[in-house]
Amino acid sequence: MPLDFNTLTISPLSHAVGAEIEGVCLAELSDEQFREIRKASELYGVIFFRDQELSPEQHLAFARRWGKININRFFTPVDGYPEIAEVRKEPEQKMNIGNLWHTDHSYDVIPAFGSVLYAKEVPDIGGDTLFAGVAAAYDSLSDGLKTTLAPLRAAHSSRHIFGSNKSRVSQVEELGARILNPELATQDAIHPIVLTHPLSGRKGLYVNPQFTTHIDGWTADESEPFLSMLYDHIMLQEHVCRFRWSKGAVAVWDNLATWHQAVNDYHGSRRLMHRVTIEGIALSRPQAL
Ligand code: SIN
Repeated sequence: MPLDFNTLTISPLSHAVGAEIEGVCLAELSDEQFREIRKASELYGVIFFRDQELSPEQHLAFARRWGKININRFFTPVDGYPEIAEVRKEPEQKMNIGNLWHTDHSYDVIPAFGSVLYAKEVPDIGGDTLFAGVAAAYDSLSDGLKTTLAPLRAAHSSRHIFGSNKSRVSQVEELGARILNPELATQDAIHPIVLTHPLSGRKGLYVNPQFTTHIDGWTADESEPFLSMLYDHIMLQEHVCRFRWSKGAVAVWDNLATWHQAVNDYHGSRRLMHRVTIEGIALSRPQAL
């Protein structure tokens, strides 16, 4: 537990990732509080706040303190606020958004830094979000595997998830109007499998089951067992924390430091979140396909 926080009370959720922060009102932050919040984000990868009352303008103002807003290409926006994406599941709907472990925007040459997710309506039980710490996952690999991974890069794409290809048909039917603009799903990028975080300097694993398609220079079939081994490793319980939402809770996650998965265990209840995404920081060796 770091000792140099003056304005925040911080409770880590696990050794690997995640911390809850108390004692701040996100709508009225001092510069010192925000500086410490940024520091906490760097240390824990994802941070959580409870009982916040944010208007859409206050939500956006808090997100803008982190960087420029990224307008999501694919999610339905909140009425009147194109910069706020809806993450919604209605009681009669079966699929939710984000049910597969992923890190957002890895298909972009410069992936989004992260998101500020605000809970508007949550089920009494269920609808938690899991986060995995990719730096802790990297640290716990053997030296031999770290050496093998060092020169490798992986390809990421938005096409098979958000595009109008066959694998998406069932998703489109179930997700209905919640996912938009398949014609905009044209992003492909190659990133190092081991990324050095531009702010924390920590090395982390940067591949994910949703958007990574293959290892650069390998076939998809050759890549699959190797990537699955890395995914199984990242998902180990000791790399994961679980956040139980309450109305008014806020999560801020860093896409280069974490994976997340929205648990779909609340059929029959509504869950509505507002998500604002923040533009990314150039990675060391970004490359388009
Ligand atoms: C997402 O993947 O952005 C959604 C996360 C959540 O709803 O918990």
